[in-house]
Amino acid sequence: MLAVAAALAALLGSSAASVLSSFASLDERALMPTIASGCSTTGTASCTNTSSVSNLCCFEAPGGLLLQTQFWDTSPSTGPTNSWTIHGLWPDKCDLTFSQNCDPSRAYTGIASLLTAQGASSTLSFMNTFWKDINGKDETFWEHEWSTHGTCMSTLKPACLPSGSPKGAEAVAFFQTVVKLFQTLPTFTWLSNQGITPSSSGTHTLASLTAAIRAESGFTPSFDCDGSTLNAVAYYFHLKGSIIDGTFVQISAPESGSCPSTGIKYPPKTGSSTTTTSAGGGSTGTPGSLPAKATIHASSTGGLLSLGTWSTQTLATYTLTGTATSFTMTSSKGNCGVSGGAFACGSGVALSTFSAVSSGGALLLASGGSTAWSSDGVPSGSTVFQVFTGSSHAQDYTLSIVSP
Ligand SMILES: *[C@@H]1O[C@H](CO)[C@@H](O)[C@H](O)[C@H]1NC(C)=O
Repeated sequence: MLAVAAALAALLGSSAASVLSSFASLDERALMPTIASGCSTTGTASCTNTSSVSNLCCFEAPGGLLLQTQFWDTSPSTGPTNSWTIHGLWPDKCDLTFSQNCDPSRAYTGIASLLTAQGASSTLSFMNTFWKDINGKDETFWEHEWSTHGTCMSTLKPACLPSGSPKGAEAVAFFQTVVKLFQTLPTFTWLSNQGITPSSSGTHTLASLTAAIRAESGFTPSFDCDGSTLNAVAYYFHLKGSIIDGTFVQISAPESGSCPSTGIKYPPKTGSSTTTTSAGGGSTGTPGSLPAKATIHASSTGGLLSLGTWSTQTLATYTLTGTATSFTMTSSKGNCGVSGGAFACGSGVALSTFSAVSSGGALLLASGGSTAWSSDGVPSGSTVFQVFTGSSHAQDYTLSIVSP
């Protein structure tokens, strides 16, 4: 219920946020967890305190400089061809040094089972597509990221969790937060919006890559290269409150990465991505058949506008990122997601993972593995209706994904 209330608040706030300068709405990211820390998110951000802070359950220290790191793996390729993938979330100290492997007693194994057992199967579904190990050992990679970096986070110490939390709940919160933060940092889309797309010929300067991300997000990341080939990016944050449900305050990179200043290659990913069917999925779509851009048509009449409403007016173009078994959607209004059974797109909306199901030559949009959608009425003229998952509202239909 807390998550639903937060999503509604985010939706209501989205029109106000959209009139702010484009960067102001991006620098603080409020994320929605399934457990609550009870910490305030309005206090001093980590690494910006001027005197000692005592409650390290609500103030990340000493690792208060948080790096969300991403890969662009092309040799071999991992993940969707139109998205960077997650590396991790690292708690660097404010002086750029760091600790690792801080609590071997919490080096959990079986991350996938842990997430499923504690109600985070949608997070696992997203990880199966977007958090990929280059050798195909995703589970081992997740275990490594948690034990190496997550166990060093002060706000995730078991003593900081609500009493009665199950064993490993802090690791579940870690993975949920990393996924949600990554979803706010769409490197592929940002570069593409600025005219920088993968190519097997041609090179880029570090300044042009950096300027592209700054133009889209307001902040400078650091880029890492494997020789002269672009391979990774890091986005930097301070944190107000807990890793569980705090507010990430983005800053520009306080250090530079390993890329040379000129001659940087950004090669395309090759082959099909090696995704596995997600725990919450059950989709039968063919991986690789998903268009990058699509309009969404309802089976009875009309289709979806950019806010995600059902209408008979001119349909919006959606950007689909991922594979047919697991992808995310954005429209010109922002991220698309399902919250409390309602579908919406907007600047305050948290991304959900969808799948595409092949049926009678059409590609149907599915949420939680179901292709059923419904509304309270049938649109006509300027009258539009909100779209809900499942068939519990008066008008039932399916939604097909159509390449423009
Ligand atoms: C900020 O708080 C942390 C945690 O108490 C402390 O270790 C650090 O010295 C503080 N920084 C300053 C400048 O006082």
